[in-house]
Amino acid sequence: MSRRTAAVDLTTRLGSIVLPNPVLTASGTAGHGHELADHLDPSTLGAVVVKSLHAEPWAGNPAPRVHATPSGMVNSVGLQGPGVEAWLEHDLPGLAATGARVVASIWGRTVDEFARAAELLAGAPDVVVAVEVNASCPNLEDRRALFAHSVTATTEVVDAAGAAGRPRWAKLSPNTPELPDMAAAAIAAGAEAVTVANTVLGMVIDTETRRPLLGAGRGGLSGPAIRPVAVRAVFDTREALGDVPIIGVGGVASAEDAVQFLLAGASAVQVGTATFADPRAPARILRDLGRWCDRHGVARLDELIGAAHG
Ligand SMILES: Cc1cc2nc3c(=O)[nH]c(=O)nc-3n(C[C@H](O)[C@H](O)[C@H](O)COP(=O)(O)O)c2cc1C
Repeated sequence: MSRRTAAVDLTTRLGSIVLPNPVLTASGTAGHGHELADHLDPSTLGAVVVKSLHAEPWAGNPAPRVHATPSGMVNSVGLQGPGVEAWLEHDLPGLAATGARVVASIWGRTVDEFARAAELLAGAPDVVVAVEVNASCPNLEDRRALFAHSVTATTEVVDAAGAAGRPRWAKLSPNTPELPDMAAAAIAAGAEAVTVANTVLGMVIDTETRRPLLGAGRGGLSGPAIRPVAVRAVFDTREALGDVPIIGVGGVASAEDAVQFLLAGASAVQVGTATFADPRAPARILRDLGRWCDRHGVARLDELIGAAHG
């Protein structure tokens, strides 16, 4: 199912980490632990990025939390989770047993909460190869903005995540025209890669109740509907920052979609919403990517990364 027969070398480098291939799961769409293993072998993917973890258990937002939209969905799950300590004890062991490379995503409402989550991860086993800093969440100390909408706040949360003592990736927001500035700030603060990007802010209104449909009002739009936004965001980041490692995410549902992100400048992609329709989507996309490269005479992934820039 997930085994490639292709001759292409899909190895990819993200800062100090070398992954066997560039297809990863997107945070929040493949569970906290081993849920994915019911559908595919997580060790065959480049890495498994787990749902964002707060230092403490977190209940998330009121229902309804998800709603289907044309070519995508809006969600306001609100970062529900067990907290880092419970995750380390109860969820990570099952995932680690699959042989997967694990990326722990963390979030907080303040810089201190990011630091606390990172500190709790410092003792994680080596199977946790990196920490993805979800900077695209609301900053309690600045009600107007997500952390990733401010150079200062982006710098602070990436810096705080250094307490985890492992490579950091900064997950950025597509909802600011200054995304390349945020990427530059994240790299300057010590991130080895930037994940571009999180969901696009959206809303659905229930015409019967005449109120926003999601329990939290606003939500994040994901799926194929946002792919051109995310591809453009990756392209912009590459154009502004050169060959900084970028992980592209937003609406990847096929190998061709993944290739678009690679050409725009990503060294890896994450698969999110596609997994809800088909839990084996990341494995299918990986297999088809190998076949696509074979058909197009691509021997190494490097030949594709950033090639759209001419
Ligand atoms: C239900 C749901 C939950 C999500 N939870 C998280 C999360 O906990 N942390 C995070 O960084 N991104 C989260 N995301 C965003 C995804 O990781 C991804 O950036 C976004 O959905 C775009 O990719 P996609 O179109 O492939 O889904 C979530 C997305 C969805 C749909």
